[in-house]
Amino acid sequence: MKKDSTVLCCVLDLAHNAGSVAMAVSSRHPGSNPRRGFGNEEKRNLSLGGHVGFDSLPDQLVSKSVTQGFSFNILCVGETGIGKSTLMNTLFNTTFETEEASHYESTVRLRPRTYDLQESNVHLKLTIVDAVGFGDQINKDERPIVEYIDTQFENYLQEELKIRRSLFNYHDTRIHVCLYFITPTGHSLKSLDLVTMKKLDSKVNIIPIIAKADTISKSELHKFKIKIMSELVSNGVQIYQFPTDDEAVAEINSVMNAHLPFAVVGSTEEVKVGNKLVRARQYPWGVVQVENESHCDFVKLREMLIRVNMEDLREQTHTRHYELYRRCKLEEMGFKDTDPDSQPFSLQETYETKRKEFLGELQKKEEEMRQMFVNKVKETEAELKEKERELHEKFEHLKRIHQEEKRKVEEKRRELEEEMNAFNRRKVAMETLQSQSLQATSQQPLKKDKDKKN
Ligand code: GTP
Ligand code: MG
Repeated sequence: MKKDSTVLCCVLDLAHNAGSVAMAVSSRHPGSNPRRGFGNEEKRNLSLGGHVGFDSLPDQLVSKSVTQGFSFNILCVGETGIGKSTLMNTLFNTTFETEEASHYESTVRLRPRTYDLQESNVHLKLTIVDAVGFGDQINKDERPIVEYIDTQFENYLQEELKIRRSLFNYHDTRIHVCLYFITPTGHSLKSLDLVTMKKLDSKVNIIPIIAKADTISKSELHKFKIKIMSELVSNGVQIYQFPTDDEAVAEINSVMNAHLPFAVVGSTEEVKVGNKLVRARQYPWGVVQVENESHCDFVKLREMLIRVNMEDLREQTHTRHYELYRRCKLEEMGFKDTDPDSQPFSLQETYETKRKEFLGELQKKEEEMRQMFVNKVKETEAELKEKERELHEKFEHLKRIHQEEKRKVEEKRRELEEEMNAFNRRKVAMETLQSQSLQATSQQPLKKDKDKKN
C-alpha cells in the first residue's frame, strides 16, 4: 500500500510540474528517483475499509493530458541533401512541406515548421526544425544552432518567471531531440560533426544516425558504427542513452543502446514485394526495404524515438537540459540557493543583497560620472584658456605684422611723394625752359627785319 501511494503521489507531483502523464512514469533525476518516495519522513501505513476511488487518479491524468495534447520538437542537423526531409516523412508516414535547401546559403539558418498531427485521439503538435545550410562550406558552424536551442530555453524561462504564467497552454518550443545525420562515408566522423555534437550535447538529447545507409556495405557499416562510437567516446561527446531504469523498457532500451548509431534508409515510395506494398528504395539490382530490420535500422529508430522514449526525451529536455540552462542563467543573475556558510538563501535575501549591490554600484557609478564630468570641465577650461592664449599671441603677432606693413607703406608713400615732387619740379623746370625757348624763337624774325631796315 505504501509503495502504491508513494508512486501515485510522485505521479501527481511530476505530472503537475511538467504537465504530462508519461513524464511521471519514467524519471531520471540525477540523485533522486521519484519512484522511491518523498524522503526519509516517517509515515504510517493505514489500510482502507473499502474502495475510496483515488486509484482513478492515473486515469484522470491520462484523460487530462490527452485533452491537453502533446508537443514534440525535433531538430534535424546534417548536410544539405543528406535525406532529412525524406526520413521525417518516412517516420511520421506523411508528407511534410519541404523545400530543397541551396548549397550556396551564406549562413546556417534554422527553419522551424509546426504541424498538428492526430493518431487515435492523441493530438501531437510536432515541430521539425531544419538547420539549413549546415556543413556545406567552411565557416558553416554550429553557433546558430546553439543560439536557437538557447533561445527556446530562454523563452520558456521568461514564461516561467512571469507573474501571470500560462505554462498550461504555452507552446513549448524547446528541442526534445536532435537527430544528427552522419554522412555514410565509411571513414570517420568529420571534425565539424565532433565539434558540433560536443557543443550541443549539454543542451539537447542527441541521437546520431547514419543517413542513406543503403549506400554503404554491411561489413563497412559495422566497422563504421564502431569507429563512430569510439570517436564519440574519445572526444567526450555525450549522446542520448535510452533509459534503462524503467523495468518495462529496460531490456529493449539497453539492447538498442548497443545498436547506436542507427543506420537508416528513408523513402516514402511504395514498392511491391511479394504481394505486399512496402516502403522501399528500388534499385536495378534489388529493393531496400525501409521497414525490414535486416536492411536497415529504421524500425529501431522509430521504435526508440516515437514508440518507447518520446516521453523520456521530453522529460530529459525539461529536467536535465533546461534545468542546466535555467541554473546557469539564474546564477548569472546572482541567484543562489545557499549563502557562503551553506545556509539556505531565500529569494527575498538574494533580491535584497542584489538590490544593495546594485544601489552601491549605482552610487559608485554616479560618483565616477560626477568626477569625470568635473575633470572634463576642468580639461575643457584649460583647453579654452590655452586656445585664448594662442589666439591672443596670434593677434599680437598679426598686429605687429600689420604695423610693420603700415610702416613700410608709409615709407613707400613718402618716397613716392618725394618722387612726385621731384618730378613736378622737373616738369615745371622743363615747361619754363620750353616757354623760354619758344619766346626766343618768336623774337628772332623781328630782329632780322630790324636788321634789314637798318
Ligand atoms: P535539404 O533539406 O535540401 O538539405 O535535403 P534533405 O536533407 O532534406 O534531403 P532530402 O530528404 O530532400 O533527400 C535528398 C535526396 O536524397 C533525395 O533524392 C532523396 O530521394 C534521397 N534520399 C533520401 N533518403 C535516402 C536514403 O536513405 N538513401 C538514398 N540512397 N537516398 C536517399
Ligand atoms: Mg529537407
